[in-house]
Amino acid sequence: MNFLLVAGARPNFMKIAPIMEAFAKRRAISNGFSYRLVHTGQHYDRKMSADFFTDLGIPEPNVNLAVCSGSHAEQTARVMVAFEKLCLEDCPDWVVVVGDVNSTLACSLTAKKLGIRVAHVEAGLRSHDMRMPEEINRLCTDMVSDLLFTTDEGASENLRNEGIHAQKIEFVGNTMIDTLLRNRQRALGMSLPAGVTANAYAVLTLHRPSNVDSPRTLERILEPIRELARNLPVVFPVHPRTQRNLEKFGLLNWPDADMRLIEPLSYLPFIGLVARSKMVLTDSGGIQEETTVLGVPCITMRENTERPVTCTVGTNILAGTDSERIREAICLVVKGIPAPKRIPDKWDGHAAERIVARLLDEHSVSC
Ligand code: UD1
Repeated sequence: MNFLLVAGARPNFMKIAPIMEAFAKRRAISNGFSYRLVHTGQHYDRKMSADFFTDLGIPEPNVNLAVCSGSHAEQTARVMVAFEKLCLEDCPDWVVVVGDVNSTLACSLTAKKLGIRVAHVEAGLRSHDMRMPEEINRLCTDMVSDLLFTTDEGASENLRNEGIHAQKIEFVGNTMIDTLLRNRQRALGMSLPAGVTANAYAVLTLHRPSNVDSPRTLERILEPIRELARNLPVVFPVHPRTQRNLEKFGLLNWPDADMRLIEPLSYLPFIGLVARSKMVLTDSGGIQEETTVLGVPCITMRENTERPVTCTVGTNILAGTDSERIREAICLVVKGIPAPKRIPDKWDGHAAERIVARLLDEHSVSC
């Protein structure tokens, strides 16, 4: 039995790490299967990719497809062409994809058309916003998947409502949280950026094209954060896309505010930074989940979230992208709302073990 595991972009690496580890553990007691890691190369900078492999102890990928940047069509097409060739040489029985990036979609479609079974980790999340490339990637990947591993019951329900057979769906928990729980102590040992002290700064991340590609939207989002930064330092690890746009739109100058723009951080320093912050402002998907587990208030600057459990039981406030609403959310957080409630079910550090157990069971059933 031969499994090909795929990772391509920054948010994939923390999801694939515990699955690699769980496969390695099972391999130590049985050699009835093999597994290989494919990096599509969608993210390629050291700070967006290699540093994560080092921090998380992920073995060197067996194959790197080195597709790099491009338009959505170019990037997806390049992954498909290269991955098809690899599948034809490698003949995997299963392709395991994670998350919702272009590489997830490209590899699941390619595998399915070759008659290879596909397992999707983090299936069933829905923002119901088809303007998001990730939503299109999630829907298409789930449609062609043979096994769909979900992070919460809401995601399983989404899939059943879309007509996916219940037997293909398994609620296993969250592999990103497996990684967080494994590394939390090490992350807390990382030093903070010079001049900031624990519980006395905010963290900002922004990268969504809908937020950072238009000067008006970006300015509207940054305005209340600039006001916050007059009283509380805001540490801002800047994504390459955002950096280019801040330069292009002339938004890099913050004379009246303590905004600390730094390069993207690798996993451990980033989690160390978030865990000791007073609040996080973000448009990321995964950070909504990490702050829920860390008990750090999170303001999400999007109109919707595919991760509603972080608002209903976690610390997340969905604030949209209007200055006024972001301002109100900041006021709530300053007043101590929302207080941490509980950790979602099965976000217990064992999701990857459940996934690998099911994949190996499927194999024994099909034998
Ligand atoms: C991708 C994912 C998104 C994820 C995000 C996290 C898709 C559709 N989007 O968005 O879901 O939340 O990653 O970062 O797959 N770039 C670099 N160095 C790199 C990688 C990218 O400079 O290592 C530049 C590229 O040139 C590109 C821009 O950043 O112009 C965006 O990269 P891209 O892979 O297109 O998508 P992300 O915005 O990173």
